Amino acid sequence: MEIAVQCQNPTTDNSDCVVVGVYEGGILSPAATLVDLASGGALRTLLDTGDFTGDCGDTQLLYQVPGMAAARILVLGLGSHGKVKDSQFRKAALAAARALRGARVGRASLHLLDTPVIRRSAPACAKILVQAVTDAEYHFDRHKKPADAPQRPLSELRLSVSENDTAALAELQGAVAEAHATARAVAWTRDMANEPGNICTPTWLAEQAEAMAGRLGIKSTILGPDAMEALGMRLLLGVAHGSRQPPRLIILEYRGGAENQAPIVLVGKGITFDAGGISLKPADKMDEMKYDMCGGASALAAIQAAAELQLPLNIVTVVPASENLPDGQATKPGDVHKSMNGLSVEVVNTDAEGRLILADTLTYVERFEPDVVIDMATLTGACIIALGHQTAAVMGNNEGLVHDLIAAGRESMDRVWELPLFEEYQEQLKSPVADLSNVGGRPAGTITAACFLSRFTENYRWAHLDIAGVAWKSGEHKGATGRPVPLLVEYLLRRARQVA
Ligand code: BES
Ligand code: MN
Ligand code: ZN
Repeated sequence: MEIAVQCQNPTTDNSDCVVVGVYEGGILSPAATLVDLASGGALRTLLDTGDFTGDCGDTQLLYQVPGMAAARILVLGLGSHGKVKDSQFRKAALAAARALRGARVGRASLHLLDTPVIRRSAPACAKILVQAVTDAEYHFDRHKKPADAPQRPLSELRLSVSENDTAALAELQGAVAEAHATARAVAWTRDMANEPGNICTPTWLAEQAEAMAGRLGIKSTILGPDAMEALGMRLLLGVAHGSRQPPRLIILEYRGGAENQAPIVLVGKGITFDAGGISLKPADKMDEMKYDMCGGASALAAIQAAAELQLPLNIVTVVPASENLPDGQATKPGDVHKSMNGLSVEVVNTDAEGRLILADTLTYVERFEPDVVIDMATLTGACIIALGHQTAAVMGNNEGLVHDLIAAGRESMDRVWELPLFEEYQEQLKSPVADLSNVGGRPAGTITAACFLSRFTENYRWAHLDIAGVAWKSGEHKGATGRPVPLLVEYLLRRARQVA
């Protein structure tokens, strides 16, 4: 999709569809006012029928509106004027995108940046629009037979501001470039995660990452079981033992910063299918465990966005990729494995595999002498109980980093909330036979998982994102969301601004 910003009067806009906003109570946005005047009151006529009230997300498509260069006008309800929140603005944008898709509009022009959104600048609103439209446009149909009717996808998206607003253009273009790179990264993550487990194996995921690195001209390194053995990554290997698919450690390095700049390290859980191992999961919804590599895909996608935007940062992404399956060779409950940092772990439950593969990876990344390490993982079902499907959990050993991630999440509407990582929770991980148990019982499952990780992150600033509730949707709209890519890219953009 091509995305551009333009200064354009809606009446002379020759896109296939011009989108303008209307508020409750029949209040027309500036762009809608221009349409109404030029058309001899087409919008007033619509409002007078009472069919359209301006409720947030209402849409009405109008054809043959007099005085318009465009063949269609999409009237979009924005809710109460002056009280539009970012969440409502996004909701309206999603509704517009669905209406555009329903009408098979190829080239659309959104005249919506005249909307005052509470605590959001115009560039921030532009980002919300791009994110919403590209999210709604996304589809994953590689494995379906081609549609009979010819498709006409949205190929061009224009964000339009008033003709007099040339001053705003440069800033908006910058925001759109950032949003577009974010959108591509989100789509890449969704593509990886939606791919079924029989295709998206550790080897395949590593190949996709290598291909990405090739496109971007950045360094990639892939380690297999022999290298892991040599490094002493027995926790990672212990998870992979039950699988015919060899594990992979995927390492991408983007060097956009000064040589001596300590890198930001992103670590993502890359379990390409989690059956639970010998501690087998129940069958219900087990198919969704192909999404257990969403953290890994997001960490890889974030480096793609950073490279595309040429951020002046050094970033390393490391993804341990493995399946977690039951087998005669699989790790058994009660087995003890030694981690790369020397701690022994009693694997009481083989379904708590994410923390095992992450632990060795978190030890591995010490070699990069990181400025910060951020890991992301669909780690615990308990996180869904704690925070549901709206908000991811964040925990860490550095207040500033946790704060920065919360702020980046707020800005990108990809929110995270902190859970406490108090020392006392560590008690729950005691094992009678090893240094550490890999499970801490039912209470505070998300926290004890992070406690486990914290034992491998003592030598650097670290934060952990538990994205179990937000990385994908179940049910009718089953599919990966691409979260927390927006948060990560926003965090990186903020870091880049501090450097520049
Ligand atoms: N990948 C799962 C976590 C998960 C489950 C995410 C359901 C989203 C939906 C993880 O590997 C897992 O199985 N965790 C266990 C840990 C438990 C055994 C301590 C869990 O949450 O049940
Ligand atoms: Mn598991
Ligand atoms: Zn898992």
